[in-house]
Amino acid sequence: MITFHDVSKIYRIGGVEVRALDRASMQIEEGEFVSIVGPSGSGKSTMMNIIGCLDMADEGTYTLDGQAIEAYSESELARIRNKKIGFIFQSFNLIGTMTAAENIELPLIYQGVPKNERKERVTEALSKVRLEGRGAHRPNELSGGQQQRVAIARAIATCPSLFLADEPTGNLDSKTGDEIMNLFHELHGQGNTIVLITHDDSVARQAKRSIHILDGQVKEVEA
Ligand SMILES: Nc1ncnc2c1ncn2[C@@H]1O[C@H](COP(=O)(O)OP(=O)(O)OP(=O)(O)O)[C@@H](O)[C@H]1O
Ligand SMILES: [Mg+2]
Repeated sequence: MITFHDVSKIYRIGGVEVRALDRASMQIEEGEFVSIVGPSGSGKSTMMNIIGCLDMADEGTYTLDGQAIEAYSESELARIRNKKIGFIFQSFNLIGTMTAAENIELPLIYQGVPKNERKERVTEALSKVRLEGRGAHRPNELSGGQQQRVAIARAIATCPSLFLADEPTGNLDSKTGDEIMNLFHELHGQGNTIVLITHDDSVARQAKRSIHILDGQVKEVEA
């Protein structure tokens, strides 16, 4: 489903060239639960931005669901992003003035999902993350773990082909982090593809497979 072939991302600052990704090649199949792990500055977020179509490779090819991403315009990329990818971030990225239910519903409004179906999908997503009854709460009325569950519900409601999470447990204590990891295990068990970015080996090991990166290079792909 995801194929990187010799993907490089090069930043040039004041004549100095930084290869944030350096001929990275890897493959992730549909239905896999994979972690991308490496130390700070190794290129994880750069890889996530390319996987999530938020940024483009300077060299090499990235293929998502059989489509070479390089061929697409900015507006087509935005469409692919909205339709195929459920993003989950370290800082939750919820809108503070909106309730949990409104946060979950918002991407569905952008997608043109009819109102009745939106309500159904919001209810179902809230129940999948076990936050029934919390739909009317605003983010500041929820714990960190609950906010991250709302963010995961927001991704679930869009029915993405890929869940892409960047340090989703980074702002949570270890017990709450484990609850979030359990949710990813459940989603994986239901057939979803999950890519989890982390610098934390103990989090990375919970995935079924880990892709290690160092200095922008894929070092090992461990089963
Ligand atoms: N916009 C940018 N301009 C210049 N250099 C950048 C830019 N973004 C990233 N880099 C450089 O690319 C390299 C990889 O950065 P990246 O953010 O992908 O690392 P990371 O693995 O996500 O690190 P962290 O764990 O700290 O988030 C680093 O050396 C970084 O300084
Ligand atoms: Mg990063």
